[in-house]
Amino acid sequence: MRKYLKFSIAFLVLASVVACSKRERKAQYMPDMYVSVPYDADMEKGTTNASANLKPVAGSIARGQVPYDYADTNDGYEKAKAELKSPLAKNEANLENGKKMYGIYCATCHGKKGDGNGVLAQREKFNGIPNYKDRDINEGSIYHVIMHGKNLMGSHAGQLTNKERWQVVQYVEQLRNDLLK
Ligand code: HEC
Repeated sequence: MRKYLKFSIAFLVLASVVACSKRERKAQYMPDMYVSVPYDADMEKGTTNASANLKPVAGSIARGQVPYDYADTNDGYEKAKAELKSPLAKNEANLENGKKMYGIYCATCHGKKGDGNGVLAQREKFNGIPNYKDRDINEGSIYHVIMHGKNLMGSHAGQLTNKERWQVVQYVEQLRNDLLK
């Protein structure tokens, strides 16, 4: 009996020593989590065998984005002006947020009233900013100009979501109507 006891104690000691010294991992679960591969965002497919760095399929639309099919040309401008209609209802909430966004992104040039007398115009940092009342514009053309810009004015598509753009359009139309009074 003692012999068995000695034997099993020896076995246990040996087993724990062997078990503890075996630090090396034989199989890794999801090795990329431990050893990450530095992908370049624009890497070609097939550079590695990973599928994580594929470019989106041509024509795919990112979540929350709305495609805009009017080209950045005079024809595109005229087409947007003729066809494009706001999907938003005319109401206080939309106007309110339009005013807020206009104050952040447009008023520096166009002025609080839309008369083209913003801070940058006053300080002569930016020339050729029109008074909205002197331009024959409508909701479609204003949206188009926010998307693509026009001459010296750059695109503001990246700063505003689709909904915010239409809210700004609503507010610019109101400013223009007030200026025309
Ligand atoms: C850096 C100055 C600047 C900022 C900021 C700016 N604009 Fe302009 N904007 C201009 C200039 C300059 C023009 C005149 C472009 C032209 O017709 O040559 C213009 C023209 C326009 C027109 C008239 C375009 C037409 O069809 O005749 C609209 C509408 C307009 N801007 C709206 C906006 C809105 C809305 C914003 C904010 C989202 C904005 N702009 C921000 C400089 C600016």
